[in-house]
Amino acid sequence: MKAWLSRLSADLKNPPASPAELARFELDHALPGTAYTLDPVPALGEGYCIRRRSDSSVIISGGPTGLLYGAYALILRMLSGEGIPDVLESAPRYPLRMINCWDNADGSVERGYSGRSLFFEGGRLSYDPFRMRELGRLLASVGLNVLCINNVNVHDPAQQLLENMLPEAAALADLFRPFGVRLMFSVDFSQPMRHGVSSADPLDPAVRAWWKAAAERVYQAIPDLAGFLVKADSEGRPGPFTYGRNHADGANMLAEAVRPFGGVIVWRCFVYNCRQDWRDTKTDRPKAAWEHYAFLDGKFAENVILQVKHGPFDFQVREPVSPLLLGMKQTNLAMELQLAQEYTGHQIDLYTMIPMWRELFDEIPENNIMSLAAVSNLGRDENYTGHPLAAVNLYTYGLLAWDPAMEAESAVSRWVRLTYAFDPDQERTLTALLLSSRRTYEKYTAPLGIGWMITPHDHYGPNPSGYEYDLWGTYHKANRDAIGIDRTAAGTGFLLQYPESLRKKYEDPETCPDLLLLFYHRLPYSFRMKDGRTLVQRIYDDHFEGKKETEAMAEILEALPFPDPDREIILSRMELQKRNAREWCDIINTFFRRLSGVDDLHGRVIYD
Ligand code: GCU
Repeated sequence: MKAWLSRLSADLKNPPASPAELARFELDHALPGTAYTLDPVPALGEGYCIRRRSDSSVIISGGPTGLLYGAYALILRMLSGEGIPDVLESAPRYPLRMINCWDNADGSVERGYSGRSLFFEGGRLSYDPFRMRELGRLLASVGLNVLCINNVNVHDPAQQLLENMLPEAAALADLFRPFGVRLMFSVDFSQPMRHGVSSADPLDPAVRAWWKAAAERVYQAIPDLAGFLVKADSEGRPGPFTYGRNHADGANMLAEAVRPFGGVIVWRCFVYNCRQDWRDTKTDRPKAAWEHYAFLDGKFAENVILQVKHGPFDFQVREPVSPLLLGMKQTNLAMELQLAQEYTGHQIDLYTMIPMWRELFDEIPENNIMSLAAVSNLGRDENYTGHPLAAVNLYTYGLLAWDPAMEAESAVSRWVRLTYAFDPDQERTLTALLLSSRRTYEKYTAPLGIGWMITPHDHYGPNPSGYEYDLWGTYHKANRDAIGIDRTAAGTGFLLQYPESLRKKYEDPETCPDLLLLFYHRLPYSFRMKDGRTLVQRIYDDHFEGKKETEAMAEILEALPFPDPDREIILSRMELQKRNAREWCDIINTFFRRLSGVDDLHGRVIYD
């Protein structure tokens, strides 16, 4: 990330205050010889149109932020050698393109793998203004426009963002404003109770009045705050259920408070029973979001957006698309992705996400979602993302949020070209490696959509039964004959939440894609896959392959001319990834062989 940022060479010590002036400033510094005209067309909003004239000068038309996005598009295309066509028109598909930071006021970052918080330290806001501008540039250059700075789990004293911390938060918002980036705050649903209000009941007039006053105070300080993000009744957070109210009551109450100021309430749907008894076979966690929200379709205020994790569980390596994203036609929906590699290698193992996102987008009808959010992978590390190659996920997320039709390969190769000055062969090699990295990680970790064979809580490395008797509703129920949970109509009925075409595709193990088989079905190890292999043989093969591919990746990376310090970080993390892949491969294969008693057909080493 640093590499391409450094090409945008304009000094950020004292940049102009408006996006349009900033556009000029960036163009003058990054493309000194290029003649251009900025043509403000407010109606274009965030969109832009770049036209090349016969004398090869350029006109960029656009609304205020559109001019800035147009400037970055021009700069990045010129710097990458891609150039521009005679006319290039573009506008973002989603109005809100959000980054959700899970940063705590004490400076730690929940599920953060890139160092400490960029915004907080020691219970207060504490940031380097220069890095904030650099971050603003980073986000704007890929079209991202909303930054929620604090964790959805609002731990003390982050509530102070609406109170004592407000003046400093307003100064932070000032730093991001020229980049077209608006702040957002995660709020604690029970916050009125810290101020002498006796409940947080959304229908209680005293509660409503408290939130109205809070919104007024906040919007006076930050008039363009995007809104509030809320995690309620989820994993111990307070919410409307305590008062016998539903989530439309809760979200609409907050929506009313921010509506006069043009704010939105982004309400997360990550609600499930996290105190499940593993003996209970009736409850099936993937069903939970639908059960809590589907019946409320059409009941949410216009400025409420329900934010739904992309899969029905929780950011596993492979999950089907959440049925809620397909079902709620009369509600504003945002899909939530996770750039932070919580279950996907902690920014140690390589895991390029866009191939996975493409699969999701290809399942969701064009008009079902109106916004995108992604849990941040950013932190105070010098390179922002811990692993230099993890930056590809932030970049490609931005491209997809702008244009969900973006192809995975061209997005990744653009990033490679902008980041490293490689020759075309090297560029192709790194692009191919990054594109294959998700499948490799998938091969050596939990097999065929089963998920959750990861070390509990920390979520790095294997522990096949670590979650098996726990409270989280994440069970594989492997015994000596079979593994998985039947989620068809004959089983838990989860599949009934899908539209018919998808239900049909998944309900029969013969037509269900192999890689999702164990998400939907309980199957014997002897089950014949589409290519004739048995289920257990497929598991062995994938794991051996995943380990081998990781070793091959290490050799490829070693041979590429990465500049320092990237090279050192990339190669040292690759050593850790190789160790991790070996551990996963051997433990998962041993687990299944011990249970099933089936030997590997090819006689490779599986431990007793
Ligand atoms: C996961 C994650 C938590 C996080 C939660 C959420 O469960 O492990 O750290 O708080 O998701 O999305 O709210």
